Amino acid sequence: MTVTAVIGSQWGDEGKGKAVDFLAGSMDYVARFNGGNNAGHTVINEFGTFKIHLVPSGIFAQNTTGLIGGGVVIDPQVLLEEIEMLNKAGIGVDGRLWVSPRSHVIMPYHKILDGLYEEAKGAGATGTTRRGIGPVFADKVSYNGIRWTDFTSDMFEQRLQVQLNLKNKIIVALGGEVLKYEAVRDEYRGYYARLKPYLKELFSLVQDGLKSGKNFLLEQAMGTFLDTDWGTYPFVTASTTIPSAASAGLGIPPRYITNVVGVTKAYTTRVGGGPLPTEIHDTESEVYKKFGEVAATTGRIRRVGWLDLEIVRTAVDLSGVTELCLTKVDTLSGLEEIQVCTGYKMNGVDVRYADVDAYGLDKVELVYKKVKGWQEDISQARTFEELPANAQSYVKMIEESAGAPVKWIGVGPEREATIRR
Ligand code: GDP
Ligand code: IMO
Ligand code: MG
Repeated sequence: MTVTAVIGSQWGDEGKGKAVDFLAGSMDYVARFNGGNNAGHTVINEFGTFKIHLVPSGIFAQNTTGLIGGGVVIDPQVLLEEIEMLNKAGIGVDGRLWVSPRSHVIMPYHKILDGLYEEAKGAGATGTTRRGIGPVFADKVSYNGIRWTDFTSDMFEQRLQVQLNLKNKIIVALGGEVLKYEAVRDEYRGYYARLKPYLKELFSLVQDGLKSGKNFLLEQAMGTFLDTDWGTYPFVTASTTIPSAASAGLGIPPRYITNVVGVTKAYTTRVGGGPLPTEIHDTESEVYKKFGEVAATTGRIRRVGWLDLEIVRTAVDLSGVTELCLTKVDTLSGLEEIQVCTGYKMNGVDVRYADVDAYGLDKVELVYKKVKGWQEDISQARTFEELPANAQSYVKMIEESAGAPVKWIGVGPEREATIRR
């Protein structure tokens, strides 16, 4: 029995989807435990190119069963579209994808409120994906949520009426349009009818799997520094992203987690507001253009920066990372010199990430180290020895400084473009 959590060690989009896809071959269960369809995980394999938002990225391995735990929030329209898309692509998810009825439902008012709150915050906006994530988790913890289990009785109708009475008042006060009870009820009853074949309480299935020695792969959404508690609050997401969240989100006791894979991009990106200490602002620079990416969920341009080792080190410590998966090393090819932030100082004194808040992070002095780059295209390399000496040194510097070995090195977006050490 192994339980492997795959977590992003930065601000999301580290390449978790790809890592989960290539690790899934030896797994029985692949599971999501947090977040919602704010996640966008890219998978490129023999079936094609996919941007997955809710279904576990390990579903492509035909030996796996996919689980969406109660810790995930579900926009049914998005999930149904994703299931249909995967079935059409020949992945065949029916009978091997189960969604916890404990999971909360993203309602139309959650998405409307997400947008209205963002607009009210103006320049201080979080830069959310506007998928209703903050409002649905707020309702969950304030006992106002609607769960799939409510649809098994008229509890859904009862709760919807109360919520619409509350939410319509806020929506109108903020300049939005009233939602009509009948229309929302009928739309969501329709989604429930279509999702019903996938809804199943996961408790016994998970417990039996753990006791009978099955292998679990837990796929985190977002990244360590978007975690509500340990991220750069208030520029965070609304769910816990560290592996312990899998305990509440799936019903797996923490002591069962055997491995934590920290997926780390060879540089840094961030989407939305909040501090990014090593950010590169010169949009005309070679490195800015090289690092540039388009967000998988919203299509926004990702902010970019040099690798920040204090961030990766903190993620390793916080989540108990046992091995690192370093992605996008191929993107660094062609740079004369690579900069790496090795630590932070405040008034000349060493500080850790955790010693400063989100606003303080804009003021820390960054300690930079310059290392020599390499010119070669490394996308065809499949062994560590095939990498140029400077690329090998870059990898070694990261594992020494972060405190966990680099076991996988990404040299391209496709599943097979991976070096295993
Ligand atoms: P996730 O949210 O952590 O799953 O990451 P995203 O899919 O949002 O963003 C990662 C991006 O990097 C995607 O476009 C991936 O296809 C791409 N990617 C992942 N690993 C590598 C790699 O090793 N090299 C290259 N060139 N691209 C990669
Ligand atoms: P994956 O799983 C990158 C960011 C948003 C915003 C903040 C809050 O693909 O790595 P939210 O919609 O969650 O209320 O937005 O969190 N964010 C992500 N950034 N990757 C993600 O997911 C993200 N999910 C949320 O950009 O700054
Ligand atoms: Mg992503």
